[in-house]
Amino acid sequence: MHNEPLLSLRDHITAVADMGELRRVDGTHWDLELGAVAELSYQLPRPPAVLFDDIVGYRKGLRVLTGSTGSARRLGRTLRLGHDLDDAGVVEALRGRPSRWAAAASDFPVEIVDDAPLLANELTGDDIDLLAFPVPRWHAADGGRFIGTGCFVVTSNPDTGVHNGGCYRMEVQDEGRSATIAAVPGKHGAQNIERWIAREGRAPVTVSFGHDPLLLVLGGTEVPAGISELDYAGAVLGARVPVVRAPDTGLLIPAGSEIAVEGWLTPDNLREEGPFGEWTGYYSGRRRPCLNLDITRLWHRDDPILLGAPPGRPPHDYSYMRTVMKSAMIEDELVTLGVPGVRSVWAHESGGGRLFIAVSLEQRYHGHARQVAALTAQCPAAAYMNRYVVAVDDDIDPSDLEQVIWAMSTRSDPQRDIEVLRYGWGSKLDPLLPEGEPAYNSRAIIDACRPFERRGDFPAVARSDPEYLAGVREKWRHLLG
Ligand SMILES: Cc1cc2nc3c(=O)[nH]c(=O)nc-3n(C[C@H](O)[C@H](O)[C@H](O)COP(=O)(O)O)c2cc1C
Repeated sequence: MHNEPLLSLRDHITAVADMGELRRVDGTHWDLELGAVAELSYQLPRPPAVLFDDIVGYRKGLRVLTGSTGSARRLGRTLRLGHDLDDAGVVEALRGRPSRWAAAASDFPVEIVDDAPLLANELTGDDIDLLAFPVPRWHAADGGRFIGTGCFVVTSNPDTGVHNGGCYRMEVQDEGRSATIAAVPGKHGAQNIERWIAREGRAPVTVSFGHDPLLLVLGGTEVPAGISELDYAGAVLGARVPVVRAPDTGLLIPAGSEIAVEGWLTPDNLREEGPFGEWTGYYSGRRRPCLNLDITRLWHRDDPILLGAPPGRPPHDYSYMRTVMKSAMIEDELVTLGVPGVRSVWAHESGGGRLFIAVSLEQRYHGHARQVAALTAQCPAAAYMNRYVVAVDDDIDPSDLEQVIWAMSTRSDPQRDIEVLRYGWGSKLDPLLPEGEPAYNSRAIIDACRPFERRGDFPAVARSDPEYLAGVREKWRHLLG
């Protein structure tokens, strides 16, 4: 009989194993080695999900999963779009869904349940020890051991009661007794924390450290304010998400969780936090004071599994997920704006899904390519920390960097086709930003389309007709594969 609650990480692992995309690795050390194996796995041509067990210093059964969403099939399963999609297929299947899910979220309020496998073990007070689990030190220059990378941090708006789920890095503090939560000001979770502290002097928080990666994707993506990611997850699943209510704070925890805590943040409880390898591929900043969670209660399943999602130089753990989500959201926004001729968008992993975006279009009029490029650079889904947008004709696949660079090299004239926009929405994470400077950036739009007026007489591409090639490939399959 199937007893797993909805949004169970174990169901996801079973599905990934059935796809043939799971590797099991026994015997790594939590101190750097586990992180290094994960890092090497992201660089494989077909990066697998990796389930680490028998971690040095810990008993067998205490596990860590990485790479949970790192392929089209795994992400397709996570977003319930299907198990057999390719890159373009996931983006295509996603088109239009985020806005439909947001609209449907209110039809799927969470369902509060009394029992869950999570509640099998409960610890309070001095028995709480986050280092009882094999929390990795992911990279050598990390400030400590980060238990929260793929985590789902739940806060609430004290005025409306609406819950928010967000993904913010969490570093273990006080030898395992507590953990800092590094939510950047402005994030919905950070706003909720500020509201509670202003009103009551303390902010209630619950955190899940292992769950179906749908919660990692939704917690780590800009779901509109005022919509609970838990209800939104219900809209994705087409079923209400079961949750348990944490007794001290009254906040919700997904019943499918492997390990969860509840506690309070107060402005006087700070610990030094960071640095940590970031999605840009660099360490950002130095060790700084950060809000520290006073944990009152911890629960875990028997033999729990931590969900890891460490960023770093791309490709990293969640760069594929970020790329696909951003590509689909940007394409949707361009279509919603009514811009004609947009074929496809790809927010490349090498730019962390933000810094380098290619967009293809079928040119319809003079200035069309610049319009598409400029709107892409500043549309809400892309505006934060974009640096380059390349517009290409529709014979170019924007997800193929070789083709994009070829188009740039042969169809763009730098003095005519590169425009620089100044004072854009930058970030403190920008490795180019000097310490203490305001977070602006500049961005280039590169028009790598054939000039509109020269489409008729632009030199022909030296390539055989695709249909002819397909026939030849068939005939010579034994040689060409
Ligand atoms: C694995 C992962 C780690 C992240 N770490 C942080 C972080 O440490 N701090 C932060 O502010 N945002 C972080 N983010 C980005 C936020 O999760 C993202 O902006 C999200 O939309 C925030 O949700 P909220 O606006 O509902 O608070 C991370 C995202 C992912 C996927």
